[in-house]
Amino acid sequence: MLDKTQDKAFYEDVVAGLSLPQKAIPPKYFYDERGSQLFDEICDVPEYYPTRTEAALLARVASELAARLANFDHLVEYGSGASRKTRIVLDALSRLQSYVPMDISEEFLLGVADKLNGDYPKLEVVPLVGDFTNDLTLPAEVRHGRKIGFFPGSTIGNLGPEGGRDFLARARKLLGNDAAFVLGADLVKDADVLRAAYNDRAGVTAKFNLNLLSRINRELGANFDECAFHHDAVWNGEESRIEMHLVSDAAQSVALNGHTFRFRPGETIHTENSYKFTPARLTALAKDAGWHADEIWTDKEFPFAVALLSAA
Ligand code: SAH
Ligand code: AVI
Repeated sequence: MLDKTQDKAFYEDVVAGLSLPQKAIPPKYFYDERGSQLFDEICDVPEYYPTRTEAALLARVASELAARLANFDHLVEYGSGASRKTRIVLDALSRLQSYVPMDISEEFLLGVADKLNGDYPKLEVVPLVGDFTNDLTLPAEVRHGRKIGFFPGSTIGNLGPEGGRDFLARARKLLGNDAAFVLGADLVKDADVLRAAYNDRAGVTAKFNLNLLSRINRELGANFDECAFHHDAVWNGEESRIEMHLVSDAAQSVALNGHTFRFRPGETIHTENSYKFTPARLTALAKDAGWHADEIWTDKEFPFAVALLSAA
């Protein structure tokens, strides 16, 4: 069961995370095929404003992006998921030779890449399965030519301040001295709007969070009772982040490959941080990682930013 490298890393991260005083599991493990489908459903719930806000913002600035990025050859998208917003960029940058969607969620990625291949016959679509918290190797098709990195969705907010800087620095190195980067990031806003976005009434975010326990049961053979935990998301204003937790409803024990993890009633597993930014913070983050923020466009109604960075 644990012979593949990524299964071993999953197992080790879960055991290490459940052994912490504040139990925690990295959010990248949300995304098995079911998790990717659930995230795609979240994008359509009325309270989750980021997807439609960013899509509208990208559509608004598409012609400006097209003018500034006319001399680029390849688009490399990190955490591409359903590649929904990519279509806006691909339609604007019609001279691109290739598109590399990269994601940790293999089956979902390959399905989306197949569909894009059919929809963009002139574009070479080269999916890349990987973990962007590690070093990546670009496919041979895009080694030469100018590259645009694309990281929408505010997924950078799930990496934490140091993780975000390290990610951008690695992308800077991978994409080269003549690269550009289009970064989408959610901005600080009214706490009620934020809380509602992560506690939607239809309970899709709860399903997404709880699927992590099902995944651990399925892939690692644990015996979590998913009905004995519930989802919660809170705004931590001091840290400027939404925190997602899985809350134990009772005193209970969970077995995993010879380990026993005990839970008190109300004890939580911290499953995700979603940091919210200011434009100044984004500019500083980019600078720390060797990028220059050439432009930051924002949406005023639901504050959200799309930043265009160039390799400084
Ligand atoms: N870009 C899409 C999807 C965002 S959801 C959008 O803007 O709507 C976050 C995506 O990042 C998921 O598809 C998930 O599978 C992927 N992801 C999360 N952590 C990752 C990691 N460490 N390496 C690669 N992909 C990751
Ligand atoms: C992918 N990521 C940016 C989402 C977010 O908003 O932090 C994941 C998510 N978690 C709950 N809802 C959406």
